[in-house]
Amino acid sequence: MQQVKAVIARAEGAPVEIVTINVPDPGPGEAVVRVLACGVCHTDLHYREGGINDQFPFLLGHEASGIVEAVGPGVTEVEPGDFVILNWRAVCGQCRACRRGAPWYCFATHNATQKMTLEDGTELTPALGIGAFAEKTLVAAGQCTKVDPSARPAAVGLLGCGVMAGIGAAVNTGGVTRGMSVAVIGCGGVGVAAVAGSALAGANPIIAVDIDAKKLDAATRLGATHTVDSSTADPVAAIQELTGGFGADVVIEAVGRPETWKQAFYARDLAGTVVLVGVPTPQMTIPDLPLIDVFGRGGALKSSWYGDCLPSRDFPMLVDLYQRGKLDLDAFVSEEIGLTDIEAAFDRMHRGEVLRSVVIL
Ligand code: APR
Ligand code: ZN
Ligand code: ZN
Repeated sequence: MQQVKAVIARAEGAPVEIVTINVPDPGPGEAVVRVLACGVCHTDLHYREGGINDQFPFLLGHEASGIVEAVGPGVTEVEPGDFVILNWRAVCGQCRACRRGAPWYCFATHNATQKMTLEDGTELTPALGIGAFAEKTLVAAGQCTKVDPSARPAAVGLLGCGVMAGIGAAVNTGGVTRGMSVAVIGCGGVGVAAVAGSALAGANPIIAVDIDAKKLDAATRLGATHTVDSSTADPVAAIQELTGGFGADVVIEAVGRPETWKQAFYARDLAGTVVLVGVPTPQMTIPDLPLIDVFGRGGALKSSWYGDCLPSRDFPMLVDLYQRGKLDLDAFVSEEIGLTDIEAAFDRMHRGEVLRSVVIL
């Protein structure tokens, strides 16, 4: 067991605190990772606000890269010294869901079995099974994916959550390929990543939509060919106009609201695909649509959970594309900050001023 500094959310709505936590030595199938960088994501704020569950105190942080420090008995995935990106849950690779290529529906996903604790012994709940606003964290070894150690930790750690969700929504869930028309509604970190994924796949045009005009600059930098400010223009009409009157082959909804999902539904071409990657609240319902429109327009209405990624396949590939200058992950890093700056980073995120603040440890 060792003690390290970490950031926790102790109670609903309370500001985060820096504390000392106990990190157990890795048991069977586990690894201790020395965290190098960890992005600040909306989900961390949702944990703090009690919007996910009430298993306080939470050990926040989950978009991270680091170096494996120690592994427990039976670990074959990684070894000490490996540079890794962390993912939410180890998947089994054997169950019905894994075998049909849907690992995020795995029946036997798992995190570390042992608990990290506060100094008084209180058990911590690590955000998304990771908890990487900490100098070191304990995870299941299967949550670690080894990648090129010369890559910038702050940039590639973001592949562990929001950036992977966006890229994967386009490439994995949406099946975007060369020459397809794509529209992305909502251009925060996830939406801009969907734009970047569409650009990687060779889509054209790529239409970025947001109600906040300053979000559209980042989308252009990452590969959008057209932008639509939907605070002033009707996005459905604009997308149709930019696609020869048809609508886009794939429309990606990266806000997580019924009204933008409805825009996506009508902004896609007949037989096109809608991908919902923005996360709705449990109270939201599908907008009232004529069933004949669902029938008559055909195509697919999909949701994208973690970009339908397979970390062992996607993380090394995307790091390689980054290293070769084909995927601008640096564009997502708005600022590098310390553990003490997380509250201020939440405020900046709330005001929409950053794509990602990244804590450097
Ligand atoms: N139309 C278009 N864009 C909108 C609308 C709207 N009606 N409402 C909000 N937006 C834009 C915001 O201006 C912002 O740029 O959607 C974007 C949302 O981005 P972020 O808040 O930065 O969220 P992000 O991290 O990208 O995640 C998007 O996916 O993971 C989930 O919980 C997350 O639901 C959220 C979504
Ligand atoms: Zn996240
Ligand atoms: Zn499985």
